[in-house]
Amino acid sequence: MDLRSHIRALPKAELHLHLEGAIDPELMMRLAVRNNVDIPFRSADEIRAACRFTRLQDFLDLYHQGMTVLRAEEDYFELTAAYLERVAADGAVHVEVFFDPQGHTARGIPFATAADGILAALADGRERLGITSLLIMNVWRDLSEDDGFAAFRHAEPYVADRRIAGLGLDSTEIDHPPAKFERLYAAAREAGLRLVAHAGEEGPASYVAEAVDRLAVDRIDHGNRALDDPALVRRLAERGMTLTVCPLSNLRLGVVPDLQRHPLKRMLDAGLKATVNSDDPAYFGGYLLDNFVAVTEALELEWADLVTLARNSIEGSFLDDSARTAHLERIDRVVAADG
Ligand code: ADE
Ligand code: ZN
Repeated sequence: MDLRSHIRALPKAELHLHLEGAIDPELMMRLAVRNNVDIPFRSADEIRAACRFTRLQDFLDLYHQGMTVLRAEEDYFELTAAYLERVAADGAVHVEVFFDPQGHTARGIPFATAADGILAALADGRERLGITSLLIMNVWRDLSEDDGFAAFRHAEPYVADRRIAGLGLDSTEIDHPPAKFERLYAAAREAGLRLVAHAGEEGPASYVAEAVDRLAVDRIDHGNRALDDPALVRRLAERGMTLTVCPLSNLRLGVVPDLQRHPLKRMLDAGLKATVNSDDPAYFGGYLLDNFVAVTEALELEWADLVTLARNSIEGSFLDDSARTAHLERIDRVVAADG
């Protein structure tokens, strides 16, 4: 079996995926026409040509513009359904997806329009594709904590019955340390949400430590820069903290100069529970399996590393114990069959 098919056959979870980052150029063009939204591109190829970034902010500017094509509940459904088809074909059995409610409500789109469209597609994906899923709402760290609280209030009915399972933090990292959101995270924890935060993508190792110590996160999204602080690495390893690492995103945003120097293998060797994810696949040139294949080739990962990455993704998920065990047993069966 070739490498791609081999990795595809390994059951795995994707834990770091922004739905607004999964609007493929063709879908963006189609939705722009359907909703009469003005975007500065005349073709999908022009969008692809615009996907050249030197740092996070370059990407965020395009990402913010791209999500304006989403207007109706069916748009959110279509986007989510297309992503699920794609990631299921990559061998994902479970996903935990982010959406950025402030990017929609600020344009006058009700919170419920976005959330209901996404949730309907996730339910459809469970039925049709057998893929389990959870929804996490992210708040933008370059906005105020009060703005984050407003988003959290919109989410209240969805949090109450766990249609929204978690809270995360994303957008421009530098100058917006996690502690800025300490009260919001305390409220979310009190409401029973699971907690994640982007940290150590462009920001320093101290932001990773702050997310752990001040926000009490259950997972770190990215976490690359944690490696600058050996004592922090030991602490993360001892706690079994999951890192949702995004190789092609890191390459495209200049977080790493090339994939050969990507820290994923060093993370695994340091005992960190790293996972592989696609982040914003429509913008970074690859979905989940593309990320696995690219980083496996660049770092010469072995089958044992790949099995560890797949296991980490299930163990680091927010599934309940019985679902988690069921998915881990699926991995065990594939590994056993593989010899
Ligand atoms: N929003 C979408 N993708 C992101 C990333 N990689 N970092 C910060 N914010 C994001
Ligand atoms: Zn991200």
